[in-house]
Amino acid sequence: MTIIIAVDGTAASGKGTLAKKLAAHFGFHHLDSGSLYRLVALGVVEAGGDPNKEEDALAAARTIIPARASDPAIRTAGMGNIASVVSAYPSVRAALLEFQRTFAKRPPGAVIDGRDIGTVVCPDATVKLFIDARSEIRAHRRWLELSAAGKSPSEVEILADIQARDARDRSRAVAPLVPAPDARLLDTSDLAIDAAFAAALALVKPGVENALRTQAKG
Ligand code: C5P
Repeated sequence: MTIIIAVDGTAASGKGTLAKKLAAHFGFHHLDSGSLYRLVALGVVEAGGDPNKEEDALAAARTIIPARASDPAIRTAGMGNIASVVSAYPSVRAALLEFQRTFAKRPPGAVIDGRDIGTVVCPDATVKLFIDARSEIRAHRRWLELSAAGKSPSEVEILADIQARDARDRSRAVAPLVPAPDARLLDTSDLAIDAAFAAALALVKPGVENALRTQAKG
């Protein structure tokens, strides 16, 4: 059994940054599952398809190249929105499941962040976190990030975007955004990144160390 840390949470909650740091800390592999849905969105757009048609989204999901996850074209707010439309289709989610489950088994362990990792993709994960922060705070952080990158975003638009995406992700019928019953909740609203990481580490460390001991014995 490899060790799996599931990190779910709301849009722009910092779950990706925390997952990456946890992976580096333990020497585990990291997968940003949101990038897979963003790649599906990009695939639909590149093929001239319609994100509101499940068959167009499924065709894109079947042909994504996960290695393209570093393509900046998937990081725009527009792609995030299209991703949250195509991610609601059960067939699209099913098409991406095997890749994620195979990734989760990579030794010595994997940290996967997303919306349904602890509930659907890896319900038997070693430890599960659910990250959230007040939406105004998340919007402000995203605004700071974009401003620092030389862009001139509107904080009001970012907030509306984040709230619309969360609402869509929470209300979909399949694999909605919801904490797993056994997830540890972490609200990072009042925490800077170092403090948020320390809090996340404190929550996952006992479970991971226990699993590492079991692994060493077996
Ligand atoms: O995490 P990120 O914001 O990049 O994800 C983009 C979109 O992909 C989310 O709004 C959500 O609709 C979808 N997603 C999902 N399940 C995941 C990860 C992301 O439905 N495990």
